[in-house]
Amino acid sequence: MTLFSEDVLAGRARRAAEATGDTADLVLVGAGEPIGKPGGLDQTYPFIPHPEYFWLTGSRRPGGVMAFDANEGWKHFVRPASPDERLWEGEPDVPPGEDVAGLDAWIRERALRRVATLGARIPGAPFDGEVTASVQERFDAARRPKDAAEIALITRAVAATAAGYAKAREVIRPGRTEREVAIEIEAEFFRHGATGVGYGTIVGAGSNAAVLHFEPGARVIGEHDVVLVDAGGEIDGYTADVTRTFAASGRFTARQQAIYDIVLAAQLAAIGRCRVGVEWHDVHRTAARVMAAGLRDADLMRGSDDELLETGAIALFFPHGVGHMVGLGVRDVGGRAAGRPEGRMCCGARVRVDLPLAENYLMTVEPGIYFVPAILDDPARRAAHRDRVNWAALDDWREVAGVRIEDDIFVTPGEPRVLTASIAK
Ligand code: GLY
Ligand code: MN
Ligand code: MN
Repeated sequence: MTLFSEDVLAGRARRAAEATGDTADLVLVGAGEPIGKPGGLDQTYPFIPHPEYFWLTGSRRPGGVMAFDANEGWKHFVRPASPDERLWEGEPDVPPGEDVAGLDAWIRERALRRVATLGARIPGAPFDGEVTASVQERFDAARRPKDAAEIALITRAVAATAAGYAKAREVIRPGRTEREVAIEIEAEFFRHGATGVGYGTIVGAGSNAAVLHFEPGARVIGEHDVVLVDAGGEIDGYTADVTRTFAASGRFTARQQAIYDIVLAAQLAAIGRCRVGVEWHDVHRTAARVMAAGLRDADLMRGSDDELLETGAIALFFPHGVGHMVGLGVRDVGGRAAGRPEGRMCCGARVRVDLPLAENYLMTVEPGIYFVPAILDDPARRAAHRDRVNWAALDDWREVAGVRIEDDIFVTPGEPRVLTASIAK
């Protein structure tokens, strides 16, 4: 049984076939193999099929390959069940298809044709770098818009995630540890249908809120701490990605509230820009501009909006991109539009997505303001932005540590749809 109906998979196969370009070329999309743990002998990490293969097949079985010849369409090569597997793991879910042992012969029968290899690398298979790069670009474009089956799964992942956040609100209290909070949130995800977590749950109390991908530990939440939670329940490979920042005591201090209000205003402004045709870098710039104005009003930054954005000064406090594509995994396709150079910066940050938005894209919008010692105490940055920060006032603000607010936004022909709107902020 695969996760998606035959109709859904046929639709994706058609979109992927259209992406292949030159009909003389072959395309292979590999599922990949389990990765052994270091020194673990027969132990492997939990297997995750390559998302390109999973999207085409709905199968989680390792070793499979989808093979495309324009004259015949797609053919699914699968790994049959082995007696050992039946003994140790039980009867596996093998999708319909031909034994992958026949793949070599299939390729040999089509010798002299160029081969694009997507998904996981396939040991021994031919590989043409140039064709692969151009097919990859079009395949990515075909995969970016979410179809209805994907949105249905994400909607369920969001419901599980919302239940986890409702629990977070109950359990975040001075005296509890970050780890206790993470356990409660994740348990609630699972109780509400999650089959996994989309990524390592982040619960950062106090200064830990300034660590972007913090791993929760034994730290006890203090009375005046902020608690930053970034977590998502996953269902069958599809995940939500949500951040909320809480006041441990239920009430922010005046400075915490001031920063929270700026981040929220930046997020709402950026969400408002999530419309068809808008450049993702402009969504980032919108958030950065609201933050620059807010930090200037708070007498923390000095200079015009344009100066604070163009010199990258705003990245002292907002050092990451405003968001990313999400859905099939926490980092879904993303990338950049054809012909654009890699790594274009925006407002001093590395903004990995560099595309105009299109209908049915699902993006996170997650601005944050942080007081990161490694950034703010760096002599080179202090010198570069000597007159753009009220350095004398900075120490009073460090207790805020970090505030991020993240939602998942579906781009429609009209208003942006906030799929995670039910999670209070
Ligand atoms: N959860 C990691 C991120 O928001 O990118
Ligand atoms: Mn997140
Ligand atoms: Mn995110």
